[in-house]
Amino acid sequence: MIDKIKEHIAEVEQFTADSPEAVEAFRVKYLSKKGLMGKFASELRNVPNEQKREFGQTVNKLKTVATEKVAALKASLENASEEKGIYDDLTRPGEPIELGARHPISIVKNQITEIFSRIGFNVSEGPEIEDDWHNFTALNLPEYHPARDMQDTFFIQTNPDILLRTHTSSVQVRYMENNKPPIRTISPGRVYRNEAISARSHCFFHQVEGLYIDKNVSFADLKQTLQFFTTELFGKSKIRLRPSYFPFTEPSAEVDVYWGLETETDYRMTKGTGWLEIMGCGMVDPNVLTNCGIDPEAYSGFAFGMGIDRIALLLHQISDIRLLSENDVRFLEQFRSAL
Ligand code: PHE
Repeated sequence: MIDKIKEHIAEVEQFTADSPEAVEAFRVKYLSKKGLMGKFASELRNVPNEQKREFGQTVNKLKTVATEKVAALKASLENASEEKGIYDDLTRPGEPIELGARHPISIVKNQITEIFSRIGFNVSEGPEIEDDWHNFTALNLPEYHPARDMQDTFFIQTNPDILLRTHTSSVQVRYMENNKPPIRTISPGRVYRNEAISARSHCFFHQVEGLYIDKNVSFADLKQTLQFFTTELFGKSKIRLRPSYFPFTEPSAEVDVYWGLETETDYRMTKGTGWLEIMGCGMVDPNVLTNCGIDPEAYSGFAFGMGIDRIALLLHQISDIRLLSENDVRFLEQFRSAL
């Protein structure tokens, strides 16, 4: 009897099936009450006592082997049918691959850094949480200087020495402290100002600031560099510089691009003047060079700074700056084809 069961075990191990029906027939034959399991259970009575133990163990072994076989066959039949579903119709359209889109801020930032990299500027970055020295004092803005009010500042907790940087000029200070001229670097990054949020301004935005320090750098170099940049980015080469004030540059200027008045949009964007302000700039104040360990007798340089968000609004005709930070995919998806 026990040998008979062992034969069944061998049979089970050999068994294969290519349809669910065959697996079911196999299950009924070996595992159901009406099948072999039932039969062996009722035969237990007739087994001599000294063989009962071995008999029971062998029947259990058969049961385990058969149960495992059924599970394995079911699983492999299911896999096979799934694969068939994929491969049986080769004309079926493919699954669409969803491509993400770059954020408009990143697109414009990349464009700007790429243009400056072509004329030898590298990219430098620094911390968003800054100390007073790098954001203000080193930039010729000592404590109580009224021009500190030009940039409403977020301070960290109650420590007036630690703040969220209000411009990436702080990165330029760090760069000058750690590198010797000639310096040609641009510093893109997020900045924070405690301003009311509206369609035109936000309490955080992004800047690219540039710095060029070498022997005999002149205002003409600054103008030429900006001219190159605006032609490359906007395709507009006419610029004008209006005198302005920044504590860290002397002289200082604001840069306007001539956008033109060809369309109604041009008219609206430029408020009927044809000119658009795009950045601030100037010759680095000698005090700033001294503060950063550079000899102003030997070196001079220029700096400029622009808002990426504002330029993104201009280039992509976006009506509200808040769209840039709301993460609405219906908005973001529209930049899929951009750089
Ligand atoms: N840091 C200035 C700002 O944030 C911009 C600027 C940079 C102006 C460099 C002049 C020179 O407004």
